[in-house]
Amino acid sequence: MSLNVVLLGYGAIGKSLHQMLEAHPGRINVLGVVGRNSASDDHVLAQTRQTSTGLSVLGLNQALEGADIIAECASPAAVTELGPRIITSGTDLLVASLGALVDEQVRSNIMDAGPGRAYLSTGAIGGLDLIRAAGDTIKAITLRTSKHPYGLLHPGLDEATRDSITEVVELGDSRIVFEGTVADAVTLFPSNINVAAALGLAAGNFDLVRVRIVADPSAELTRHTIAVRGSGGSYDFDIQNIPDPHNPATSVLTARSMASGLLRLAGVGPHFI
Ligand SMILES: NC(=O)c1ccc[n+]([C@@H]2O[C@H](COP(=O)([O-])OP(=O)(O)OC[C@H]3O[C@@H](n4cnc5c(N)ncnc54)[C@H](O)[C@@H]3O)[C@@H](O)[C@H]2O)c1
Repeated sequence: MSLNVVLLGYGAIGKSLHQMLEAHPGRINVLGVVGRNSASDDHVLAQTRQTSTGLSVLGLNQALEGADIIAECASPAAVTELGPRIITSGTDLLVASLGALVDEQVRSNIMDAGPGRAYLSTGAIGGLDLIRAAGDTIKAITLRTSKHPYGLLHPGLDEATRDSITEVVELGDSRIVFEGTVADAVTLFPSNINVAAALGLAAGNFDLVRVRIVADPSAELTRHTIAVRGSGGSYDFDIQNIPDPHNPATSVLTARSMASGLLRLAGVGPHFI
């Protein structure tokens, strides 16, 4: 029996994920993609829209009829807007845009509601199993994310932060462009710092996590340096990812993590729990 998957979002991650899943035809069946404005568009979409790669573009209702799981690789706004409808329909949801779950109400609507289950993608990092296991022994987590400025610039930035990041490009020196809480990090960089949200979710407490974001014009890799300190031990992770060639805000590893997670749900490969 194969797992029926619908992709929510078909950008850098969605396209790579689609390609990876197509390599497992007996285990995973990609039914289609829910794109922007598809949620209320079932009638129109029932006609004939397809992506350039031949995937059907589905309305959300069509997707919910056939999918075992919807793999979100769109945006935090998509999780907030569509996540509750997916979960209450009884369909499972794999979330990449973890920043949406920093909001307590959204988190509860998606993670506590059911009958569908919410799965959280490990995305661009690892070690989340360890952090979850360490649980309330953890006293502090620091995350230092260093990215090329082009991986941080986005249209929703306030003027001061935009100017600061742009200056980094012009002057050629790296610079700390943000320091603070997970909540403030995901407010300022909603699609760029999901890793911060992942750490808070794994630890069960966002307040334990301090975030520092560095814009580095010489960075060829996106680097996440994570230090976990607690009564049970000290854990340090240093993850350096190749940015996705189609979106410098995203790492190539993220689509791989989502594919790996879906394959695990389809019964392929070892289950570390
Ligand atoms: N967990 C992680 O470590 C991690 C890492 C990288 C990215 N992400 C998340 O994954 C998301 C997608 O990344 P990407 O690089 O593929 O981005 P992208 O911009 O290349 O593609 C996103 C696609 O989703 C579509 N989309 C956006 N909002 C939508 C909505 N409401 N409904 C349907 N479709 C919508 C866009 O039109 C676009 O085609 C990011 O926004 C980010 O939040 C998570």
